[in-house]
Parts: sequence; C-alpha cells; structure tokens
Amino acid sequence: MRLLFVCTGNICRSPMAEALARSHPGVEADSAGVSAGPGMAMSEGARRALLAAGLSAPEHGSQEPTVGRVVWADWVLAMTGGQKAELLRRFPWAGDWIQTLGEWAGGGEDVPDPIGSSDQVYQSTMTEIGRLIDAGLAAKKAGPRYQAAAGADHAGYLMKDRLLPLLPTPVLDIGTHDPSSVDYPNFAEVVAALVGQGRAAVGLLVCGTGIGMSIAANKLPGVRAAVVSDVSSARLAREHNDANVICLGERLIGPVVAEDALREFLATSFAGGRHARRIAEIGALEDRT
Ligand code: RB5
Repeated sequence: MRLLFVCTGNICRSPMAEALARSHPGVEADSAGVSAGPGMAMSEGARRALLAAGLSAPEHGSQEPTVGRVVWADWVLAMTGGQKAELLRRFPWAGDWIQTLGEWAGGGEDVPDPIGSSDQVYQSTMTEIGRLIDAGLAAKKAGPRYQAAAGADHAGYLMKDRLLPLLPTPVLDIGTHDPSSVDYPNFAEVVAALVGQGRAAVGLLVCGTGIGMSIAANKLPGVRAAVVSDVSSARLAREHNDANVICLGERLIGPVVAEDALREFLATSFAGGRHARRIAEIGALEDRT
C-alpha cells in the first residue's frame, strides 16, 4: 500500500503521518504540501513528537504534490477539506483516490495545523494522525486501478470521446472535455504516468497528429507509445513493439479508421520471441539514460 500524505507546508502534519505510516509493514509512504517551498526540514515540534513516541524522525525535505507522486499513491490523503479541494483542482482526474485522512479512516474531522503550538499539541496531533492511519489501514481498501486511461488535447478530444466506449473498463478519462486550447504534454504526462506505473493497463492519447502526444508520453519510464494511423500499424505496434499507449491524430485519420485501429490494438497480443529481446533493450536504454 502506497500512501501520499498532504498538508500545507509539508513540514508538520504530513511528515509525521509519513513516518507513522512507514512503521506499518507493507506500507510505503511519502508526503507533500500544497503550499510547500522546496527542501524545508521537518518542524522541531514534529520531530520531537516522533522521537518522544519512539519513532525515528528521518531527514526530510518539503515538496509539492506532482503528477508522478499522485499517480504513485494508492491513496492521496489530505489533512483538511481545503487541501483536498486544492488537490482536486490540480489533479481532477485523481478524484477516485484523493480523500481527507479522516474520510479514508471511515469518518473523521480535519486534522488542524499544530504549527507554532506546544509540544503537547504536536503530540496529540500525532496521536490523532496515528489513530486515523491505523483505522484506514484496518479497512484494507485497495487503491483504484484502471483497465484503460484516455487523454486528449483540444485537437483530439472529439475523437477521444468517440473512442471511449471501445476501451476496456474501468476507464479513467483525464480530459480534456472541450475545445479550449490546452497543452498536449500535460495530458500525455498523466496517461503515461498511469500506464508506466501500472495503474492503468493501456493508454489512449489523441491530439491533432498523435505525434506530440507520443513524443511526450515516451519520456516516462515503462511507456511504449506508438503513433498509429491504420489497422496494420496498430497490429504491428502491439505484435512487435508491445506498445502500451496508442496515439492517434484526429486531424489526420477519420473516425472509422481510428475505431478499427483501436479495436485491432486492443485485440492483438505481443508476439514475444525475438521482439522480447528488443523490448528488453529498450528497457536497458531507458535505465542507462
Ligand atoms: C495542437 O494544435 C497540435 O499541435 C497538437 O494537437 C498535436 O497535433 C501535436 O502533436
């Protein structure tokens, strides 16, 4: 189970939660702050509260929540409703796994900020966070996973919307949903992170040509994004390249060709054999760079 705890500055509540969660076997934890400056140490009060409870207070550098961190986490757990709202504003596609810590624990209040308070307040804040983490972990709720993730820019969203019903479910549609101009790398990053981190089995990206989406998506580890223009390229992208993201160009191919290509892509298996060696070489290239 991977947990990302989020507070405001990432120096008090969320690093305490991170340390508490890490003391549970099988739990990986990280923390961030919606207004975090980079690299600030944990507050002294938080550090003393952890040490007083017999836990270690590891080296800490504050950080902001990013696409990668949000996708990595099974659950993103905010200390307050306000922080949750801010997370949803920045990462609207992650609404299935962004909650307040209290909600995740089965019903609890916001965890107020102890900054500047006495050691006693820090200790009671830490005790409350620990109680909520214990309750949430006891529920053993798996973080959501998807069979497919889909994204598009303004030049591709109509085709993306038309293709959504062909994708295996559950599908996570990260947008865009209207013709207002947006930048395709932001959508490629999210779908590629979802696929590269195993949260979604396959990705669909549509822009004007499919090219920008594929260039951006292929920057992320574990992603093999292929621009496909017909049924043959769709089949070969799967058979030979084990592509896990299909990129289509709404301005270049028609809707029926796109539907046929996507069906073929989804129905075709990787051929393995000599192709497996080449895919392993791509993985090694990724590791080297
Ligand atoms: C947007 O105008 C266009 O550049 C984009 O959709 C895509 O084709 C980029 O590769």
